[in-house]
Amino acid sequence: MGGGLAGAPLAAAVAKAGALGTLGLAPPRELRDAIEQVRSEAPGRAVAVNLLLPFTGRRHVEVCVAARVDAVVLAFGERRGLVEQLRDAGVFVFAMVGTRPQAQHAVRQGVDGLIAQGREAGGHLVGTTPALDFLPQALSVAGDRPVFLAGGIATSADTRAALDTGATGVIAGTRFLLTHEANAHREYQRRVTVADETIETNLFGFTWPLRHRVVPNDATRRWCRDDGKAKALPAALNAASGHLAIPLYRDLNALLRLQSANGPLFSPIAPNREMPDHWVDRAALYAGDSALRINEVTSAEQAVKDLTPA
Ligand SMILES: Cc1cc2nc3c(=O)[nH]c(=O)nc-3n(C[C@H](O)[C@H](O)[C@H](O)COP(=O)(O)O)c2cc1C
Repeated sequence: MGGGLAGAPLAAAVAKAGALGTLGLAPPRELRDAIEQVRSEAPGRAVAVNLLLPFTGRRHVEVCVAARVDAVVLAFGERRGLVEQLRDAGVFVFAMVGTRPQAQHAVRQGVDGLIAQGREAGGHLVGTTPALDFLPQALSVAGDRPVFLAGGIATSADTRAALDTGATGVIAGTRFLLTHEANAHREYQRRVTVADETIETNLFGFTWPLRHRVVPNDATRRWCRDDGKAKALPAALNAASGHLAIPLYRDLNALLRLQSANGPLFSPIAPNREMPDHWVDRAALYAGDSALRINEVTSAEQAVKDLTPA
């Protein structure tokens, strides 16, 4: 979870609890410090980094290679030679995929493992079908590579169902968004715990016009059509903004300052703990359908326990 939501405190707590903590993308220096922090707080445990490709620069990759992180998750794009570069440095490379052609492409590029994302997942979506329906397709393409399932993992029974269908493990976002160690704004967390629906939309797409799943807020009520899609004006602004991703990522908070539920410009940044309360109604409240089954914020350790089958 990028944008500051999943930093060292969350990744270290998850690692200490026995799972694989994944740092979300952060500016290169912060990322380097976060890797060091996880290593010192959870010695001997693996550390993974999510490379959110539309916003990943050369220096992010250099940080991962220099720190010899154990695993990297490549998501939402590709970069020529990147898989090779990371593998040559001894990094285990996962790619997150949502369709059979994406899975085939990732395997051709030489990745070590796949993350099969379902459409019910929170945040940005490559998933186009329910995770458990897509999993057999990903498995058939993966050969003997491990496939982890992402989307809809809220309980140990969900994990059990994924493992029984052939997954090697599971990836959970929303469950860990709702932990004390995540840096999400408390009101964002509260809204997710009480949500009774999620919306698949393209509203929060300025700089990155990819589908994503959120819980409703004033911004979606004002600017989404009944089917969840953004109305014409924000959709047109988003469509014209893709090339601004890397230049603007350094200060996307500045964009958030300009946003309002009444204006048509919505960046992908989600509200974190340092932001004012009222920004929760102007920003993306990413969450998956599993939010409908998670009603409390817990410790990350408890979340790992809750997801671990007996
Ligand atoms: C708040 C939030 C932020 C996310 N940010 C990222 C991200 O930065 N990079 C990424 O690859 N996936 C991101 N995801 C998607 C996750 O990788 C994963 O596919 C998803 O959370 C699985 O579904 P679940 O939310 O039902 O567990 C995010 C998900 C959430 C809920």
